[in-house]
Amino acid sequence: MTLHLLTRRAVHRSSVLLRTMSSKAYVVPIDPKNPAGNAAPGVNPASLWSSLPQTQKPAKVGTSHLFYGTPAFDVTALVSLGEGFDSKTGDVRREVVRKAIGSGVKSVKGLGDGVSEAVIDASTDPHAAAVAAHLALYNFSLKTSPPSAFDPRGTAGVPKKLKISTNTNSADWDRGVVYANAQNLARTLMELPANMMTPTAFCERVQAEFSGIPNVEVIVRDEAWAAEKGMRTFLSVTQGTDQPAKFLEIHYKGAPSKDAQPLAFVGKGITFDSGGISLKPSAGMKLMRGDMGGAATVVSSLLAIAQLQLPINVFAVTPLCENLPGPKATKPGDVIYAMNGKSVEVDNTDAEGRLVLADALYYASTEFKPHTIIDVATLTGAMDVALGEIYTGVFTTSDALWERLSVAGENEYDRFWRMPLDEDYGPQIYSSNADLCNTGGKPAGSCTAALFLKAFVDGIEAKDGQEPSVRWAHLDIAGTMEFTRPIPYQEKGMTGRPVRALVEFVRRLSS
Ligand code: BES
Ligand code: MN
Ligand code: ZN
Repeated sequence: MTLHLLTRRAVHRSSVLLRTMSSKAYVVPIDPKNPAGNAAPGVNPASLWSSLPQTQKPAKVGTSHLFYGTPAFDVTALVSLGEGFDSKTGDVRREVVRKAIGSGVKSVKGLGDGVSEAVIDASTDPHAAAVAAHLALYNFSLKTSPPSAFDPRGTAGVPKKLKISTNTNSADWDRGVVYANAQNLARTLMELPANMMTPTAFCERVQAEFSGIPNVEVIVRDEAWAAEKGMRTFLSVTQGTDQPAKFLEIHYKGAPSKDAQPLAFVGKGITFDSGGISLKPSAGMKLMRGDMGGAATVVSSLLAIAQLQLPINVFAVTPLCENLPGPKATKPGDVIYAMNGKSVEVDNTDAEGRLVLADALYYASTEFKPHTIIDVATLTGAMDVALGEIYTGVFTTSDALWERLSVAGENEYDRFWRMPLDEDYGPQIYSSNADLCNTGGKPAGSCTAALFLKAFVDGIEAKDGQEPSVRWAHLDIAGTMEFTRPIPYQEKGMTGRPVRALVEFVRRLSS
């Protein structure tokens, strides 16, 4: 980033302004080959750009130049869209816009409290620009100085955050804001430590987020309800903790007919995964505060869908509990009968995600007869080994569903990679003394976990040569739950992925 000071008087004026009053910044992406930008009153991006010394003209996407003392704005940030922008199209072009806007917002954010508002020139792609600006602005902290907006005790006294706005308003921009805010909510839910994000706290926060939105019903079930339903594999996971488990159910009915067959989301909601009796090593265990990432992302996606009032019926169910090694904890070798009647040998109490999901998938598929079920889970370390933090693994028997998910993921650059869901992995999860074993050995650990889940999706097997009555996809986000390296529009930390891809998937499905 380079700073450019227009005149001595402008320098003086801008430094006074930046210190004493709320001031505005203007963020303008520039195609170096055709440096027009969106002119604002008193700002001519093209002439500012051409004032740069030739040698400094950057080709790299995201290189920012700050100009102080421009008349209508106190700072103008010109951000390069990189070489060959004019020839880029579609998904590739959109990602360049996100990177450039993200870098521009970061450069302004870096100026600190002096800047109170960043106005974005979103004309290159309003949706992508809104997404990048709002994701780039986010940062999670629980420090008391400066006071954190994430402090669950309340946000009184928190200094006003940098505000994002645009001078190129459009419905696409507004939609992008909803997408990004939903993803940011998922980041917060995942980032919050397990003592602050218990199953109870999760439900309370979600109820507050959905309150007042039309066509929504939020139901919080307790352990007694789950016991009555026969959700024994779910409850087997919560036995080792005193923290009450919850089963959260959210229904959104936006379709013209309230009876129209719904889409189902199922999210793994382990608010802390210690491994249970099969205790995990301490190093890095704190990452497991985010083991409710599936629940966080499906709930946040549904929030965006409801805020946008998309014309579709969707519901989400999330089994929420801790996995701890208390005196009543499930032990390796215990056998549990799941809600669908199948017996499961718990070979390893750390393979708890598939146990809570087994009952949730069976409940979702039998109780509400959805046409499509998508479950999201931080399910296996093996997923991170296979695909790292770039692609979320997708396991599905439906080519059509895969196709739609893939298109949505590419559109948002929140990408998916298809993995095998194959019965030939079956022998790995046949148990010696029960229908299924909850571990399948080291080879293809993510694939055996996915196949385990399939046994609990009612209607997934084709009967009498007919098509299966439900389409199901399992999304393993163990690798993509966290960015260990920042990208231009998103800091390190819990990612909130694949919220944007899921919302985009549903938006396309419903239109
Ligand atoms: N929540 C973990 C998976 C995980 C690991 C997510 C690392 C994100 C980062 C899951 O409950 C788990 O412990 N899985 C075990 C399964 C094994 C015991 C069959 C694993 O992956 O080691
Ligand atoms: Mn585990
Ligand atoms: Zn887990």
